[in-house]
Amino acid sequence: MRASFLLSALVLAASGPVLAAPVLPELPALPELTGPQSDYVEHCSGCHGMQGNSAPADIPVLRDRVGYFMCSQEGRDYLIRLPNVAFSAITDNQELADMMNFVVFGLGGNSAPRGTKPFTAAEVAKLRGRALATGSLIAARAAIVDRLVGTCAVPQSMKFFYDGQDQAAR
Ligand code: HEC
Repeated sequence: MRASFLLSALVLAASGPVLAAPVLPELPALPELTGPQSDYVEHCSGCHGMQGNSAPADIPVLRDRVGYFMCSQEGRDYLIRLPNVAFSAITDNQELADMMNFVVFGLGGNSAPRGTKPFTAAEVAKLRGRALATGSLIAARAAIVDRLVGTCAVPQSMKFFYDGQDQAAR
């Protein structure tokens, strides 16, 4: 008696709306990413932001700024010698060069001087062997930026990690 009651309850439930297939909300299509963009999202965007905009975190904004480093040889080298880049899990040098070219010319917008040559696999291979020590990064960056400001229209604000940080600090 009890068992048959349970059974009919189950049958009722099975035919009712309770077990109807859930209606999923319409999702927007996922954006199509190129290989270098996908590498950036996986290895870098957690800190620097999907669009290269990390402000107001204490992490430099890449968007429309990172290309300024391409104005000097030491600035260019710095971008690959950064420990997060040099020691990246991306072991293939062409793949890392492609991703850094996306960072500089894609996220960086027009900040790289006109005519800047993209990174090559050979250049990346050489610079990875000269990674900067983590402890000296801030000082290394400050020295490089000091020499850059005023050349190739590199703005004073590059001394900070993002525009307006000088005002925010006051
Ligand atoms: C754990 C957080 C973190 C991750 C992950 C990370 N970065 Fe950074 N990145 C930083 C910080 C902090 C600095 C500032 C270092 C300094 O003072 O020179 C920095 C500096 C930089 C700079 C120099 C910008 C400037 O204005 O000095 C570039 C370019 C850069 N990162 C690119 C990358 C790329 C490309 C990746 C992925 C391979 C990556 N980062 C992964 C935190 C991170």
